Amino acid sequence: MSNPIGVGLIGAGTIGCGVARLLLESRELLTQRVGTPLNLVKVADIDWERDRTFNIPEDLRTTEAEEVINHPEVSIVVELIGGIEPAKSFIIEALNKGKHVVTANKALLAESGKEILDVVMRDGADLGFEASVAGGIPIILALREGLVANRIVGMYGIINGTANFILTKMEDENLSFNEALSQAQALGYAEADPTLDINGTDAAHKAVLLASLAYGRLFQLPDVHVEGIEEIDIRDIRYAQEMGYTIKLLAIIKGEQEQVEIRVHPALVPSQHTLSKVKGAFNAIYVEGDAVGPTMFYGKGAGEMPTASAVVSDIVAIARNILSGASRRTAPFSYRNLSNGVKVKPMSEVESRYYMRFSVLDKPGVLSSIAGILGNHGISIESVIQKGHQTHRESVPVVMMTHHAIEEHVQKALKEIDKLPIVVHPTVLIRVEG
Ligand code: HSE
Repeated sequence: MSNPIGVGLIGAGTIGCGVARLLLESRELLTQRVGTPLNLVKVADIDWERDRTFNIPEDLRTTEAEEVINHPEVSIVVELIGGIEPAKSFIIEALNKGKHVVTANKALLAESGKEILDVVMRDGADLGFEASVAGGIPIILALREGLVANRIVGMYGIINGTANFILTKMEDENLSFNEALSQAQALGYAEADPTLDINGTDAAHKAVLLASLAYGRLFQLPDVHVEGIEEIDIRDIRYAQEMGYTIKLLAIIKGEQEQVEIRVHPALVPSQHTLSKVKGAFNAIYVEGDAVGPTMFYGKGAGEMPTASAVVSDIVAIARNILSGASRRTAPFSYRNLSNGVKVKPMSEVESRYYMRFSVLDKPGVLSSIAGILGNHGISIESVIQKGHQTHRESVPVVMMTHHAIEEHVQKALKEIDKLPIVVHPTVLIRVEG
């Protein structure tokens, strides 16, 4: 058997503890699968006092990340502290020292991916980031290897467990937004700053990585149109339900090889569609390739052990490469050369169907005013429902579904509609997929 391969962790939080647990408790199994032991050599964290789910042996602990990076026995440095700095400096330093790196840090890769990739390419190290998208689901491996023969036609993902947990709790248990969020935080699904989960940024970071893997260009956060679930109202969840839809926070990446749409926003998904059945903190990604057709990946997208499973899969892949002298067998983003050729479709040109909820006075002529403006902008109405009638309330909701329309036309029409004296509150707009 070859010499053991040394692994060092920076960050002993929830995921770090899960990784340490797998490396220590599944050591024998991993040794059989790799062909040599994976030795956990050092674990760095700034605070060893707080409660942990796993007791990391005292002799492995340090408070200095440098001790992990510089340790002569550490070949693979695993960064699990999240955030941009000091994570970025630690990763670059490790790569510069000839170490391979595994990270779960989607924000860092989405925001500073180029800087890190330049060092990876120069130094010939391996970079693993399976845990950065959809927790335990091996979607990065699937795009890089299993689906490598395909042009990706489209991907539709539920890739934020916290947002999906909140929407599920609101729909199934009538919980308020805040009650559901507190539960998600207590279960360890949410980011340190849960705003990123709720406002769509976390899903957008992941969408950047998925799009880059699929289309061969290193996209960035500004390439993504992002809307969160902050404004989702229980009334819209119920009206959508009545019309046969479920509201999900979707990441949508689709297009040809020349032009791609990358967007994250709430969407009405037909209740019969498999994506609608994805509940709680589970994630799912529907991927359609030109050769394989539709595929679906489903599993736990957050939490200690599912994410640790993904991190350890990267460690094993790198260890196997080391053993066979084949580091960088695959390029981190699948393509040997990332190009800038693929354009991002401007949001204004995107086509969709739309759900609109108008808050209007209950008076004759209201519907025709709204329909007139929509018609002037070439937007065709598929169905209309008015819920109740005005008694003591200041307005009534009118819900419309449109046929396919162009985003720019819809936005212009709504601007005009919202200026009408009969419109009491700004119109709620949610796109409809499928
Ligand atoms: N906060 C993320 C989520 C964790 O809720 O999906 C996994 O990236």
